[in-house]
Amino acid sequence: MADDAPDNDESLLESAGELFGDRLQLANRYAALLADTGVTHGLIGPKEGDRVWSRHILNCAVLAELIEPGARVLDMGSGAGLPGIPLALARPDLEIVLLEPLARRVDWLCSVLDELDLPVTVVRGRAEERMVRREWGGADVVTARAVAPLARLAGWALPLLRTGGRLLAIKGSSAAAEVTRDGAAVHGFGGSPPRMVQCGGTHVDPPTTVVVVERTASRGRTPEARRTGGRQR
Ligand SMILES: C[S@@+](CC[C@H](N)C(=O)[O-])C[C@H]1O[C@@H](n2cnc3c(N)ncnc32)[C@H](O)[C@@H]1O
Repeated sequence: MADDAPDNDESLLESAGELFGDRLQLANRYAALLADTGVTHGLIGPKEGDRVWSRHILNCAVLAELIEPGARVLDMGSGAGLPGIPLALARPDLEIVLLEPLARRVDWLCSVLDELDLPVTVVRGRAEERMVRREWGGADVVTARAVAPLARLAGWALPLLRTGGRLLAIKGSSAAAEVTRDGAAVHGFGGSPPRMVQCGGTHVDPPTTVVVVERTASRGRTPEARRTGGRQR
C-alpha cells in the first residue's frame, strides 16, 4: 500500500483479523487511542492518525513470527508501545516489559494498558542504567524500533539479554548499511554478526525489515567498544 494512503484497505482489516484473532477488538481500541491521545500527546506524528494500522500496528505485530513461545520480551524505547503492545495483543503467551524513560510517555502507556486490561509491565528507565540491567536483564528477546543506530542499540540491548537471547531491531531502508557499518561494534559488545530478515510479507507491504543480533558471549565491552561508547563514529 502507498505510504500516504489512509487505512481503508480491506486487506489491512483481513490481516488485522488474522494477526489478532479474538483480540481484534482490543487492537481496535488501541488503534483508536493511538490515533486520538497518541497524536495529541505527541507520541506519533500529527499526520499519522489515519494510518496507525499500516504505519504502526500491523508492521510491528508481524514481529511475532520471529519470537519463540513463552519468551520474555523487553521492548526498549517503547514510546507509544511500539512494537510491545501489538506484540502483546497478537501473542498473549509472551511476557512483555515496556521500557521507556520519558514520564509523560510512561503515563500514557500505563493508562492505555489499564484501559485494555493487558498484563504488560511498564518500566521507566534507560536501557543502559544499572538498575534496569539488574532488575530486567536476562530477557530472551529485546525489541526496538526507531530508537538508535545499530551499534548503540547493541551496546544497550546485549547486556539486557541472556546468552543466546536476541535483539530484534525493526529498521527501515538504512538496515543494510547499518549491518555493514556496525558489525564490528556489535561484535565488540558480544553480539553475533547482525543479519537482516524480513517478516510479515503476507500481511504488510513492504514486509517489515528486522536486524537480528544474538548475544553470543557474556563478556563486557572490548577496549574498542569502551573507547567508542557504542556510538556511531
Ligand atoms: C523515536 S521514539 C520510538 C518509539 C517507538 N519505539 C516507536 O517505534 O514508535 C524513541 C524512543 O526511545 C526512547 N529512548 C531514547 N533513549 C533511550 C534509552 N537509552 N533507553 C530506553 N529508551 C530510550 C525515547 O524516549 C523514545 O520514546
